[in-house]
Amino acid sequence: MRTLTGMNREVRIYKDLDQLSLEAAREFARLAGIAMDRYGRFNVALAGGSTPRQLYERLANHVLLDWGRIHLFWGDERCVPPDHPESNYGMAQSILLDHIPIPPVNIHRMRGEIDPEEAAVEYQVQIANHFRTPGNAPPAFDLILLGMGEDGHTASLFPGSPVLDESDRWVVNVTHTQPPPPLIPRLTFTLPLINATRNVLFMVTGKAKAGTVSRILINREKLPAGLVNPVLSSPVWMLDSEAASKLITKEGEK
Ligand code: 6PG
Repeated sequence: MRTLTGMNREVRIYKDLDQLSLEAAREFARLAGIAMDRYGRFNVALAGGSTPRQLYERLANHVLLDWGRIHLFWGDERCVPPDHPESNYGMAQSILLDHIPIPPVNIHRMRGEIDPEEAAVEYQVQIANHFRTPGNAPPAFDLILLGMGEDGHTASLFPGSPVLDESDRWVVNVTHTQPPPPLIPRLTFTLPLINATRNVLFMVTGKAKAGTVSRILINREKLPAGLVNPVLSSPVWMLDSEAASKLITKEGEK
């Protein structure tokens, strides 16, 4: 593993998705241990998409995780039923939830099957009731897992979307979504909620994303994933060598 610092992010570069997923599972367990020692529980928001699948498979077989004290949330969801092939919950359920002794009350699903605005309001209430933080400030998750699209989106925060300017709400519905059709509306954490977290792990792989990774980490372009800058800690970017390929020149300099 190679670490690049500066860019007010921590960049960890791994040979491939296998190694990245192994290390992400170790980091998940490490942060879970810290949270349980300090707060008695571990509140984590899972990412959707395909990159985290291997991580979830590893977590499903991780014998040392106390799932009774781990609360799973989702950073975004497609507005579809949980058994729909596009459902982020459905993906996690088949790979992880169905294989771990986690109490149902610890699984906090975004209800993609109901009206998107109702689902967004309902989920924010669910988060508020869980964390019970005073006032309107967004609560601090212990960890938010994120991916990144080739366009620089993260969660369901897409370039040019008006929800990028949301400053009060924690969860919103997104009518603008990425192709391909059918354009499925989505639910997403907003930047205020994401940036309140104690830890962020980005997991980004593949050559197709190398240019966008460089635009964000080197050029500091304000693409959505580049707007994730938690107050409590620098975001950690876990990249495979392909996604990092435009960060490191042949001479090994960044
Ligand atoms: C989603 C994710 C989204 C994802 C990126 C990367 O619901 O699709 O939240 O932000 O992380 O699109 O997806 P891949 O991991 O499939 O490349």
